[in-house]
Amino acid sequence: MNPFIDNHQPSLGEIERYAWSLLENGSRSPKEAFYTGTFGTVTESGISLRTVVLRGASPEERITICYSDERAGKVEEIRHRDAVSWLFWDEGTKVQLRLNGRATVHSGDSLTAEHWDRTTPGNRRSYLALPAPGSVQPVATSGLPEGLDSRQPTEEEGAAGRENFAVIVTKVDRLEWLWLGKGGHRRAGFRYEGNACTGASWLVP
Ligand SMILES: Cc1cc2nc3c(=O)[nH]c(=O)nc-3n(C[C@H](O)[C@H](O)[C@H](O)COP(=O)(O)O)c2cc1C
Repeated sequence: MNPFIDNHQPSLGEIERYAWSLLENGSRSPKEAFYTGTFGTVTESGISLRTVVLRGASPEERITICYSDERAGKVEEIRHRDAVSWLFWDEGTKVQLRLNGRATVHSGDSLTAEHWDRTTPGNRRSYLALPAPGSVQPVATSGLPEGLDSRQPTEEEGAAGRENFAVIVTKVDRLEWLWLGKGGHRRAGFRYEGNACTGASWLVP
């Protein structure tokens, strides 16, 4: 629920909790606006942005989670430089969230196993391309094994994706909330160190 509704003047604490609840909701349902976000990494020559599905958000740990093929460009970029950012916009609530943090790529560990167990056969197809994502091909192709363009992988076929599956965890150190209100916009910024919120301020939009 928008904390500014009915002329209520919310505290910074309420705004911060609201922002994280939008992220948590987004990570739980494809029907929510923040189910997808724009995820930014730093490359050798600049910045790279792409849409990803938000797979987890924890206000307690100050983390957000997305999945990737381990061979994808973003993984290499994070391993080279861990500074990342996330951008979300919800037309319904008129809220924009900007997150900055440091990312860690997990593969082949217990966290990866826990998240792999949550994936559906349909999700697993995303990790089954035979050539690496982004590799140049002579024809337009999904890169999937024969037949998998038009059907879901079997349990056995899907299992092959596990070695390409990576979980990217962002430890958020800055969160910025912007609300486009009819009676004037509002903006607030929050800083985190570890799990603690160490700074909160209203900002001019
Ligand atoms: C709606 C949508 C959701 C997507 N979700 C993901 C995702 O959760 N993880 C992912 O790696 N790529 C996802 N993609 C594909 C990325 O946007 C991107 O094309 C791909 O990850 C390769 O990016 P990279 O080479 O920078 O790693 C999604 C694309 C769209 C359009």
